[in-house]
Amino acid sequence: MTDTYESTSDSSRMDVSAIHALLKDTYWSRDIPLATLQRAICNSLCFGVFYGTRQVSFARAVTDKATFAYIADVIVDPAHRGKGLAQRMMRAVQRHPDLQGLRRMMLVTRDAHGLYEKFGFKVAASPERIMEMCLDNPYGATST
Ligand SMILES: CC(C)(COP(=O)(O)OP(=O)(O)OC[C@H]1O[C@@H](n2cnc3c(N)ncnc32)[C@H](O)[C@@H]1OP(=O)(O)O)[C@@H](O)C(=O)NCCC(=O)NCCS
Repeated sequence: MTDTYESTSDSSRMDVSAIHALLKDTYWSRDIPLATLQRAICNSLCFGVFYGTRQVSFARAVTDKATFAYIADVIVDPAHRGKGLAQRMMRAVQRHPDLQGLRRMMLVTRDAHGLYEKFGFKVAASPERIMEMCLDNPYGATST
């Protein structure tokens, strides 16, 4: 069977408008300004899957390319969920040459632990050692 999906980690191919349409309604990025997302994409290693000319999934890694990476904004278009696209992107993350031998990779998830466990992530062994500083409503969303 022909594979109708194409994976890429070429940041220049990322369709910022399509990614914005997916992310602006999520619980973690509600109402993110397009310019903020554009800046985040420019400064990350990006992963996406295209269905024809349409970008239908996205993920990015914020990294020093030597010791650490933070995986963020993993999202799949609702019409294309359940077809392995998130796993496909996570495999691309795992294989990316700039993400080999890192001391630590981290991510935050509300309910997709099972997805990331498939790729070796575990709930933090010592969560009391992890600190954070967050804005409650960074983009001024009216509903969260
Ligand atoms: C989570 C999400 C990225 C999964 O994308 P997807 O392409 O449908 O996932 P895949 O088809 O690659 O498979 C996901 C696998 O993880 C498992 N899984 C565990 N928790 C899950 C969850 N909360 N949502 C989806 N899948 C989950 C699935 O069962 C599946 O495993 P299986 O194939 O053995 O059944 C997608 O549902 C999405 O965009 N959700 C909204 C945004 C979101 O919550 N992103 C994660 C933020 S950390």
